[in-house]
Amino acid sequence: MLNKKLLKLETEINGCFMEREEIVRGLLVTAIARGNMLMLGAPGAAKTAIAETLSRQLGGNFFSRLLTKVSAPEELFGPLSLKALENDQYKRVTKGKLPEADVAVIDEVFKCNSAVLNTLLPIMNERVYFDDSSTPKPIPLQVLVGLSNELPDGGVNGELAALWDRFDLKYIVDYVKDERNFATMLKLSNGKPSTIISLQELQSAQQQAEQVNISDDTIGEALERAEKPRLYYFRSSFQKLPALLKGSCLARRA
Ligand SMILES: Nc1ncnc2c1ncn2[C@@H]1O[C@H](COP(=O)(O)OP(=O)(O)O)[C@@H](O)[C@H]1O
Ligand SMILES: [Mg+2]
Repeated sequence: MLNKKLLKLETEINGCFMEREEIVRGLLVTAIARGNMLMLGAPGAAKTAIAETLSRQLGGNFFSRLLTKVSAPEELFGPLSLKALENDQYKRVTKGKLPEADVAVIDEVFKCNSAVLNTLLPIMNERVYFDDSSTPKPIPLQVLVGLSNELPDGGVNGELAALWDRFDLKYIVDYVKDERNFATMLKLSNGKPSTIISLQELQSAQQQAEQVNISDDTIGEALERAEKPRLYYFRSSFQKLPALLKGSCLARRA
């Protein structure tokens, strides 16, 4: 059964990391809600390790990139097609890049410059890629994970406010708190989980989640959690809230 498989993967991932249960659940829920998730926090707190380990178990095309302030659009979206240019068209060769990815991890995501940002925002929000200046193309992206050691320059109200807002779930990641857990962490072998959730299985979980009825209690609970900003922020538009709740109910049933 699919739910059992999701639970098995979750258990395996939790076996590789200490004190990261909430983040692991959050990432699975984000994948079921076809959303975007942010991990923000101290360097060396296993943000990259969790994002990459879990994402690679989600089947489909995987894309991962570390941004710098000078990252060029081709690093994420592919080089310009010379053939198309010969015909006076402006197109990118997107093979192996973000527009063709099912699962993506963008490290140091707030280093994003405006040349990248303009194309990234519709990818995150509407799951479309602007192939040229006017035609949006639907993309297969199921889940995008953004990572950062620091808040965007200018804070969350600056130029990158829109990017900040595109992350449906945001987690602050801290170092391992419990001393015994820290000791266990030092002994963990960085084993690889064996369970793979195929793209079809993920899409079937998304369909199952759509059928879930969310009760008033669930909504109340979620709104209460939304008020604990350290753990959980919801998009200011609350646009993705129903999908996240449904995904969360489905994951809880597993
Ligand atoms: N809570 C944890 N449980 C297991 N390993 C951890 C944990 N925190 C850190 N590590 C180890 O530290 C390494 C560095 O983490 P990394 O993913 O590079 O951190 P970040 O991306 O947050 O800077 C990981 O590969 C992992 O082996
Ligand atoms: Mg990292």
